[in-house]
Amino acid sequence: MTAASATRRGAAIAFAALALGAASVAAADRDAGRRKAEVCAACHGPAGNSVNPAVPSIAGQPAQFVATELFLFREGNRKDPQMSAIAAGLSNGDLNDLAEYFAAERPAPPKHRTAPENAAAAPALAHKFNCVQCHGPELMGQQHIPRLAGQQPDYLLAQLKGFKAGTRADIDGNMTSAAQALSDQDIQVLVDYLAGLSSGN
Ligand code: HEC
Ligand code: HEC
Repeated sequence: MTAASATRRGAAIAFAALALGAASVAAADRDAGRRKAEVCAACHGPAGNSVNPAVPSIAGQPAQFVATELFLFREGNRKDPQMSAIAAGLSNGDLNDLAEYFAAERPAPPKHRTAPENAAAAPALAHKFNCVQCHGPELMGQQHIPRLAGQQPDYLLAQLKGFKAGTRADIDGNMTSAAQALSDQDIQVLVDYLAGLSSGN
């Protein structure tokens, strides 16, 4: 096991303990989450629907995914100049309340329009590379796995390049493995497709 994968497994185990602990102590509170989320709108947009192509939408993401990412930022496994500072001040209760709130918000319809040739080519790629296996048949995410449908394009591109280069934090290493097989062309086609997919609104 490499040092990096040992760190990732450590984070996964610590997170599992956190989630269990939180469940037994106090249920996540969506209204408290709404109040705590006021500060998030400046970057993530109203109710977590980002209007900036480089900043992810978090509305309607699975609660477990939102809490996991906030935990990774807080613990320093995932790093971003803006998000790391925000997450540093959050308690375990805050993570769960915020996750509960954003998971229940409705994703806005995507503004991105996919090129027809990419709309035709991408579904075969999403099957070939098992994206649908983990992210779900409609790419809507589940548990600790994010929704990709309707996500901001510049953000998706940066993350896929980051996973391929091994620079994006990854709780279990699965996404880093999945990205290794992708060519730069595959990434372009998938991003153009995902960003224009209906997010279920
Ligand atoms: C100053 C701007 C800013 C603020 C305020 C902010 N964020 Fe973020 N957030 C970002 C950026 C930028 C990213 C993407 C980081 C990256 O590229 O890895 C991000 C990423 C995230 C992610 C990961 C999403 C994903 O799809 O992987 C979550 C979850 C998140 N933020 C939650 C929050 C919450 C909850 C708050 C409020 C408590 C908040 N953010 C406040 C800028 C901000
Ligand atoms: C074996 C399961 C698995 C497969 C296969 C997989 N993913 Fe993922 N993916 C994940 C997990 C788990 C995460 C969250 C990683 C983390 O933040 O710790 C993720 C995260 C992502 C993200 C980051 C999104 C965000 O909001 O931060 C993108 C983009 C992504 N996957 C795209 C893809 C694409 C495109 C494919 C197919 C080429 C794919 N994934 C295949 C499990 C998988």
